[in-house]
Amino acid sequence: MVQKGQMALVTGASSGIGRETAIRLAEKGFQVIAAARRRERLAELADQVQGITPRQVDLSDPEDVERFCREISNLQEPVSVLINNAGYSIRGALEDVSIEAVRRVFEVNLFAMIRVTQACLPGMRRLRKGTIVNLSSIAGKFTFPLSGVYASTKHAVEAITDALRMEVRPFGIRVVAIRPGAIATEFNEVANQMTGDLLARTAADYKPVYQASGAGLGKVFAGISIPGPDLIADIILKAVLSDAPKAVYSGGPMVEEFLGQRTKLDDDEFYRFMAEKTGLMGLKV
Ligand SMILES: NC(=O)c1ccc[n+]([C@@H]2O[C@H](COP(=O)([O-])OP(=O)(O)OC[C@H]3O[C@@H](n4cnc5c(N)ncnc54)[C@H](OP(=O)(O)O)[C@@H]3O)[C@@H](O)[C@H]2O)c1
Repeated sequence: MVQKGQMALVTGASSGIGRETAIRLAEKGFQVIAAARRRERLAELADQVQGITPRQVDLSDPEDVERFCREISNLQEPVSVLINNAGYSIRGALEDVSIEAVRRVFEVNLFAMIRVTQACLPGMRRLRKGTIVNLSSIAGKFTFPLSGVYASTKHAVEAITDALRMEVRPFGIRVVAIRPGAIATEFNEVANQMTGDLLARTAADYKPVYQASGAGLGKVFAGISIPGPDLIADIILKAVLSDAPKAVYSGGPMVEEFLGQRTKLDDDEFYRFMAEKTGLMGLKV
C-alpha cells in the first residue's frame, strides 16, 4: 500500500512513458516530482493531475544535474520511488556519429541516470526501502545496425542496474530494469531530429548500407501495430506496487522475436539472423 506523502521522482516526465508513469503514480497517492526540460509541458501536467510537482532540469548539462541533485538530496521527505526514464536515441553508422553526439547521449541516458540515483540512495537507505526502475530497452541486450551508440548506452544501463540490484538489496531497496520494444511516443521524432540527415552527409560507401538496412527494418516493422506508452507505464506501476518485483520486465512488439532469438542462438547465429533481418547479409559494396 502507498503511504500518504510517499515521494516518487520520474525523469523525462514531459512526454511518452515518463508522463504516463507520473500520472499513474500520482493517481495511486504518490507525491510525484516530474522532471524534464520542457517547463510548459510539466506545468500543464501538474495542473491536470493532483500530486505532481514540476521540476525543470537539463540532464545533458552536468552542472544542471548537480543543481537538481542537491535539490533532491535536500527534500524533507526522501524519494522512495525513482523512475530513471529520460532518454533518447541517435542513429548512424559508427563512422558517421560525432563524438560530441556520443558524449551527449551518454550524459543523458547513463551519467545523469547514475548521478540522480546516487542522489536518491542515501534517503532510501535511511528509510530501508525504495524502488529504482531504470528504462533500458530491447537494445540493452542486442543492437540493430546503425544504432550501436544508443544500444551501448542501454547495455551500460543494464550493467549498472544489475550491479546496483545486488548492492542495495541488503537495505531493502529493489532495482528493476524495463526493456520496451518499439513504443509510439516522441522517441522516433526526437531520434530523427538529433540524428539529422544521414544520407546527405555519409560517404558514398555507406549509402547502400543505410538503404539496405532501412528497407530491412521497414520489413521488420511492416504490419506490426505499435502500442502507446500506457503499456509500459502499466508495467512500471505493477513493478513499483509489487511486493516482490521481477529483476526485468519486457513489453511491446519485437520483444519475443528479437530477445527470444538472442537467448536461443549463439553469438554467430544471432548476428547472422540480425544481418538477414536487416537486409545486410548479402550486401557487398
Ligand atoms: N519509445 C520507444 O520505442 C522506446 C523503446 C525502448 C526504450 N525506450 C526508452 O524509454 C524512455 C522514455 O522514452 P519515450 O519513448 O517515452 O520517449 P519520449 O516521448 O521522447 O520521452 C523522452 C523524455 O526524456 C526527456 N529528456 C530527453 N532529453 C532530456 C534532457 N536532456 N534533460 C531532461 N530530460 C530529457 C524528455 O523531456 P524534455 O524533452 O522535455 O527534456 C521526455 O520527457 C527512454 O529512456 C527511451 O530510451 C523507448
